[in-house]
Amino acid sequence: MGLAFLLTLAGLAFYAAHLFEFQARLELQRESRLMLDSATATRAYTSAEILPLLSASLQHEFLPQSVPFYAATQNFLRLHAQYPDYSYKEATLNPTNLRDRATDWEADIIQQFRNDSHSRELVGERNTPMGPVLYLARPIAVSKECLECHSEPAAAPKTLLARYGVNNGFGWQPDEVVGAQVISVPLAVASSDAHKTLLKLVIALVISFVLLGFLVNWLVRRHVLAPLRQIATLADSVSKGDENVNFSSASAREFGVVVQAFERMRISLQKAMRLLGH
Ligand code: HEC
Repeated sequence: MGLAFLLTLAGLAFYAAHLFEFQARLELQRESRLMLDSATATRAYTSAEILPLLSASLQHEFLPQSVPFYAATQNFLRLHAQYPDYSYKEATLNPTNLRDRATDWEADIIQQFRNDSHSRELVGERNTPMGPVLYLARPIAVSKECLECHSEPAAAPKTLLARYGVNNGFGWQPDEVVGAQVISVPLAVASSDAHKTLLKLVIALVISFVLLGFLVNWLVRRHVLAPLRQIATLADSVSKGDENVNFSSASAREFGVVVQAFERMRISLQKAMRLLGH
């Protein structure tokens, strides 16, 4: 029974490990998607509601609160406190802030979005020195609200030019895909979640087995071994010549047929003995 349990446990654990890992990855993707949605919503809110309020002041003083990208990043920083494993970037081919320039693999993703205008999302894994990382990316397309600050330097607020210069982040065309929102999270997070769940399952299985083992042991002793022992004792007495033995007194209901057979044998034996003249 122990061996059967160990084999079952190993098989279940193996299967569950794969299942949990798969589930944990789906969960990471779901959370990443939610964060991208939240970043997109913040961008849209800033373009539609904050920028019109601040655009007059932008002529005197640069207010980063008017920039959709700034709003999305600030929003994400607050989320980051609760989800420290995730990182967010608006990777761009020709960025206003050079810090946001797309790296090689990000540029490949942006290129894929530029080549296929129907593609709305890319999910993938890549290896980094810190281990494999899951990423989820969505294209950033230029709409008319963006042109004020990203079309021609002449159209942009002077305060923006004073801060970022005229060389970067301009020349974007309407509807052009200029970059990608990329959210990344180490896959180790999924593995560690999966391992925790697996450990709980294995502990639950071991406890269940131990309890089941005790129960089966008790049932076998009570309903199999004890009655068999009683029949054996009675059979012993018969073999020693005790004629008063009555198998029907054995409390082994489960072994009714065996008890009857023994009883018949005892009676036949008695008759045979009598015939022999004892
Ligand atoms: C009020 C001016 C303004 C408007 C309007 C604006 N941006 Fe920007 N955008 C900026 C500035 C300034 C930055 C750099 C912020 C920083 O310091 O990282 C920036 C950054 C970005 C970035 C990050 C990469 C980079 O260039 O540094 C993206 C992507 C971006 N903007 C896209 C857009 C899109 C798409 C729109 C329209 C929905 C838009 N922006 C509207 C001023 C603006």
